[in-house]
Amino acid sequence: MRINENFLKLPGSYLFSEIGRRVAAYGAANPEKSLIKLGIGDVTRPLPAAVLEAMHKAVDEMGRSETFRGYGPEQGYDFLREAIVEYDYARRGVTLDADEVFVSDGAKSDCGNIVDLFGLDNVVAVCDPVYPVYVDTNAMAGRAGEYNEQTGMWSGYHYMPCTAENGFSPEIPNCKVDLIYLCFPNNPTGAVATREQLKAWVDYANANDAVILFDSAYEAFITQKEIPHSIYEIEGAKTCAIEFRSFSKTAGFTGTRCAYTVVPKQLRRGGASLNAMWNRRQCTKFNGVPYVTQRGAEAVYSEAGRKQVKENLAYYQKNAKVIFDGLKGAGLTVSGGVNSPYIWCKTPNGMGSWEFFDLLLNRANVVTTPGAGFGPSGEGYIRLTAFGDAAATEEAVARIKAIL
Ligand code: MLT
Repeated sequence: MRINENFLKLPGSYLFSEIGRRVAAYGAANPEKSLIKLGIGDVTRPLPAAVLEAMHKAVDEMGRSETFRGYGPEQGYDFLREAIVEYDYARRGVTLDADEVFVSDGAKSDCGNIVDLFGLDNVVAVCDPVYPVYVDTNAMAGRAGEYNEQTGMWSGYHYMPCTAENGFSPEIPNCKVDLIYLCFPNNPTGAVATREQLKAWVDYANANDAVILFDSAYEAFITQKEIPHSIYEIEGAKTCAIEFRSFSKTAGFTGTRCAYTVVPKQLRRGGASLNAMWNRRQCTKFNGVPYVTQRGAEAVYSEAGRKQVKENLAYYQKNAKVIFDGLKGAGLTVSGGVNSPYIWCKTPNGMGSWEFFDLLLNRANVVTTPGAGFGPSGEGYIRLTAFGDAAATEEAVARIKAIL
């Protein structure tokens, strides 16, 4: 037999597993140290009360034969798909049909699984730095070419550097690419895209028979009114874009698992409907998100749920400001954090990303994410998340300041 040898080309381990390994090793060697984790973007606020209540009720339903549910629809229950269409889209002026929304167990899984739909010879365009899932999953599928240890880049990708010089905004390719990954508000830089910038991407994709894979998992953190939350706010996007959303960072579902992907029915490539293809893929490989979880997600849109989620977001937004202002006050160059839970921070004195990561881990006992882990253009940066406990976040900033 032959294995999928593309897996053998992947460098080392997945970024967050590698950080976890280093942090665990440090913790084991220094059990007396109290570590503050601002590394992986994992939330700390508990589930909103409205979500809990709905889940408890749903658990009770599962315990009675009259209300018990077995397999649900692979695409998600209508009650949740309809709530998504109404609250996340219609109220922002975007019209979608419920059957354009596919409920799933996570935006990470969907971003990885969506590559099933596309031919292996498509050219993939990714930002640099980038959320590593886009890069690694296409590499697993065999779309990345060869990995170069020296440059940290794959031969098959079209890289779009996002640097301080271009305001961390990728430039439209001057060649033909087929699959374009965009993430706004961006992970890891925290940058956002304006309406005009997104319009240019939509026009490019429609003109070049390309598809935009738009990850808007962090849209709820947008504070500036003029910044679009969805790619579908841009005219023409329904014929070229797939959008990924998540309940993880808004309603604290990182452990509960619920997200969704929008594949418009107008989106066709190679003579086929991508909506129909994704539906076929999900029906074959996925049995849907648990009923209890979907009832919890539905409650995010109730009046109480929306209020509680807003409070959670405000809590994290305050943390973002504490990190941003604190590090800036300490003389560091920072960006992001305003429309995003991520703060992108330049390392001092030209220090390498991993070197600064190690310094902060060892001397301040603060866990961050080295920018280089997101791609070569992330070298010289670290990322901090605003998802921590408020007091711990203040303490982390004080500790970092103290060692600079
Ligand atoms: C991150 O830290 O970048 C997040 O954990 C991404 C994710 O949600 O997988």
